[in-house]
Amino acid sequence: MNKKYYYDLEKKLNFEDVLLDALPNPIYYKDVKGDFIRCNRGFSELTNTCKKEIIGKSAYDFFPKSAADRNKLIDKQIMKTLKPYEDEVHFIRKNGELRYYKLSKAVCQNTDCVVEGIVCIMTDITERIKEKEILIQQSKFVEMGEMIASIAHQWNEPLVELSAQVQKMELYYSTNQINKKKISNFVSESMVPIQYMSETLNDFRNFLKPSTLKEEFDLKNAISEIFDIVGKQIFYFNINVIFDYNKEEEFLTFTYKNQLKQVILNIVNNAKNKIIERYKEINFDGIITIRLKSNKNLNIIEIIDNAGVIDESIIDQIFDPFFTTRENGTGYGLYMAKTIIEDKIHGKILVKNDNDNVIFTIKIPKIIRS
Ligand SMILES: Nc1ncnc2c1ncn2[C@@H]1O[C@H](COP(=O)(O)OP(=O)(O)OP(=O)(O)O)[C@@H](O)[C@H]1O
Ligand SMILES: [Mg+2]
Repeated sequence: MNKKYYYDLEKKLNFEDVLLDALPNPIYYKDVKGDFIRCNRGFSELTNTCKKEIIGKSAYDFFPKSAADRNKLIDKQIMKTLKPYEDEVHFIRKNGELRYYKLSKAVCQNTDCVVEGIVCIMTDITERIKEKEILIQQSKFVEMGEMIASIAHQWNEPLVELSAQVQKMELYYSTNQINKKKISNFVSESMVPIQYMSETLNDFRNFLKPSTLKEEFDLKNAISEIFDIVGKQIFYFNINVIFDYNKEEEFLTFTYKNQLKQVILNIVNNAKNKIIERYKEINFDGIITIRLKSNKNLNIIEIIDNAGVIDESIIDQIFDPFFTTRENGTGYGLYMAKTIIEDKIHGKILVKNDNDNVIFTIKIPKIIRS
């Protein structure tokens, strides 16, 4: 009977060894002091030590002191709580490779409920961690790509403005009209788009840490500043701009001023482009109306043009990235506008047709003075 018992026990232990060795995860069993009692081949390979030499040793013999200290602390804790525990560790293997592991620990008790030790199964999560890092890296690249595309998109307008100034100077020179006053005008008028380009650059550079950029301002000011940039082109093309708001009212908001300006600029530019196209066909008066309104909690900006509706079959797509119907368009302007308004400013941007007009509506939270 005794002999049979030992035979069965040995068979059982042998089976367990084979089973444990067959598992790819490193597994060990420690006593309450923290000394290894048993382990599998996976753990032996991890520590680069044969199983027999591992028995009786502790984590301090194989891992950095800080990792072993942490292990000891966790073991002590779970031997009190008796609850399973999961932890993540990383260490450099003998071949110099950095690997990450998840440790799943459980407390072993005998039939009298006395704690006898801890079992730990290690799972190699290095690939998963690396994939996560790659994803983070990729999303940073996407963000950077968007930032560069935004800068390029927003520089287009001031560059057109600036080149017009430069050409004007050439004309003055060729007609012998250059004088001190003209030069000083040239410098001050050129500085407006240059200043704007520089602000745009800083602004998008700070896109990643936008909390530093919020400011309190009146929408009336932001809108009038936009016309410092596009005003001249609108003037050249004889487009009528109506600014419709109650002069007594304040339209205070607390947000990213320059980014909001970028959005309005994009919408005004789209209207301007459409009006210029329309001029080629027929003679009509292009009008862009910018209306400011407010209700209890929101400031509402409406940008309206009278140069023909957006086809209902595409109206749902105009905010999609790279959707364009213009020959030289990138389709980036309204996508950028929606991203800024909805993701950064937490407002809303909508579009609708109204008779022959297109109305873009932006709703943003307002500051209420008591
Ligand atoms: N005011 C508008 N009236 C009619 N259609 C518009 C208006 N604004 C935008 N659209 C439509 O939405 C599309 C997308 O506009 P968006 O500003 O994103 O790109 P784009 O103007 O074509 O190119 P980009 O802004 O890069 O120069 C336009 O091509 C046009 O078809
Ligand atoms: Mg556009």
